[in-house]
Amino acid sequence: MIPFQEIGYLIGSVSFVLGLKMMGQPDSARKGNLVAAFGMGMAVIAALLFDEKGYHVINNIEFIVLAIFLGTLVGTIIAKRVQMTAMPEMVSLFNGMGGLSAALISLIEWRHHVSIDPPGGASMEMALYIPVIAGLIIGTISFVGSIVAWGKLNGKIGDFRFPSQQVINAIVLVAILVTAALNYTEFNASHSSFYFYITIALAVIYGLLFVFPIGGADMPVVISLLNSFTGVAAACGGFLYHNKVMLMGGVLVGSAGTILTVIMCKAMNRSLMNVLIGMAGGNGGGSATSASGGSVREVQASDVAVMLKYAGKVIVVPGYGLAVAQAQHACHELEILLESEGVDVKYAIHPVAGRMPGHMNVLLAESNVEYDKLIEMEHINSEFASTDVVLVVGANDVVNPAAKTDPSSPIFGMPILEVEQAKQIIVLKRSMKAGYAGIENELFFFPKCGMLFGDAKASIQKLLNEVKSL
Ligand code: TAP
Repeated sequence: MIPFQEIGYLIGSVSFVLGLKMMGQPDSARKGNLVAAFGMGMAVIAALLFDEKGYHVINNIEFIVLAIFLGTLVGTIIAKRVQMTAMPEMVSLFNGMGGLSAALISLIEWRHHVSIDPPGGASMEMALYIPVIAGLIIGTISFVGSIVAWGKLNGKIGDFRFPSQQVINAIVLVAILVTAALNYTEFNASHSSFYFYITIALAVIYGLLFVFPIGGADMPVVISLLNSFTGVAAACGGFLYHNKVMLMGGVLVGSAGTILTVIMCKAMNRSLMNVLIGMAGGNGGGSATSASGGSVREVQASDVAVMLKYAGKVIVVPGYGLAVAQAQHACHELEILLESEGVDVKYAIHPVAGRMPGHMNVLLAESNVEYDKLIEMEHINSEFASTDVVLVVGANDVVNPAAKTDPSSPIFGMPILEVEQAKQIIVLKRSMKAGYAGIENELFFFPKCGMLFGDAKASIQKLLNEVKSL
C-alpha cells in the first residue's frame, strides 16, 4: 500500500526547509513563503485524509474544514490590510494564536486522558506527560506574552514595573515547575487535576509578568523569543501525536526564533537579559534630546538637490522614520532620477534599522528597489569614504558615532553605519528628537552634516522637484 500520509509529511517537511532557506534572500523570500505554505497545506491534507493504514477521513471533518476556511479568510484580510509599521503587531498576534493552539492541544489531550483512564486505572506514563505539560506551559506563556506584546506595540498596554519583578518572575517560574511535578504524582495517586489547572493559572501569570516590564520598542526581540517558545510548544504536540511534520515544523520555528533573537541582540550589542529586564530603550523612542551646546546646520531642499545632482556616488541610509513616513516609493523615485543623471545610488542596510528584522529590505523591496542595491552594513561601511553624499532618511541610532566613541553611551559597542566618513551627510528628520535609544546623536553636530527638517516623504518629494528643476 502507498504510504500517502508519510509522503505528505515528507513533502511538507522538505518544503518547510526549502521555504525557510529561500526566505533568507530578499529576491526569493516571497516564493519561499509560498513554498512553506504549500508544505503546510500538504501536511494538513495528509493528516486529515490518511493514517498509517491508508485513506481515512478524520472525525468532525466539517468543523475542521470550516475552521480552516474561517482562519484563512480572517488571516488573509488582516495580512492584506496591515501597514508595514504594524507588522510586528500582526506577527505577535499570529504567534499568540500558535501558542494558544499548542496549549489547547495539551488541554484536550489531558482531558481525553482523564476520561479514558478512570480513577484507579493505569497511571499516566512520563513519556506522555512531559510533552502534554510542556506544551501546555510553553504554549500558554507564549499566547499570553504575545497578546501583551501586541497590546504594547499598538499602545493599548503601557509598561508596568514593580519592585523585585525579576525575583517574583523567578518564583512564579519555579512554582510552575513544582505544580507540574505535583500534578503528575497527584493524578497518578488520586486522579485529581487540581494542580493541572493551577499550573495553567501560573503560566498565565508568568506570561503577563514576563512581558509587562519590557519597553515597547524591544518588543521585536521578545516577539522573536516568544515565537521560538511557540515552536517548542508545537514540537511537543508533534511528540504527543508521533507526528513527524509537526515535530519538524516546531523545531524549525523554535530554532529560527532563537537564532533571530540572538542576531537582534548582537546587532544592538545588548544581552538578552538586558532586553528582558527592560534596561535601555525605554518605550519606543522619541524623547527630546538633551542640548549638547553644539549647533546644527539646517539646510534647504534646493541646496541638497544641487549636491545630489552633481554627486558621483550617493548612499541612502533608511531608518525607522522612512517606514513611519512611508517614504520608500518617493525614495525609489529619487534613486531612479539620480541614476538617470549618472549618479551611482546604493542603500545601506543596518541589521536593526527600523523596528523588526528585515524591516528596511521589505519596505524597499515593496517599492521595487533592486535587491543588489541593498548593501548590508559589513559590506557598505568600506564604501562611505568614497561617497559624496549620504542621505540619512529617518535613521538615527544606527548612524550614531557614539556607539564607537563613547563608552558611557547605552549603544556603545553596537555596530553602526559609518556615515561620518562620507564627504557630506544630509539627515532627513522632523526635529532634533532622539531615536529609539533616547540619546543625542553627535553626528548631527558635525560640520559636514546638514539637517533637512520635515517629514521624510515630503522632504524627498521636495528633493525630487528641485532636482528635476535644475
Ligand atoms: P531610530 O533610532 O528609532 O530613529 C528614527 C528617527 O526617525 C527618529 O529620530 C525620528 O526623528 C525620525 N522620524 C520618525 N518619523 C519620521 C518621519 N515621518 N519623517 C522623518 N523622520 C522621522 O531608528 P533607526 O536608526 O532605524 O534605529 C532603529 C532602532 O531601533 C535602533 O536603536 C535599534 O536597536 C532599535 N530596535 C530595532 C529592532 C529591529 S529588529 N529593527 C528591534 C528592536 C529595537 P524625528 O522624531 O525628529 O522625526
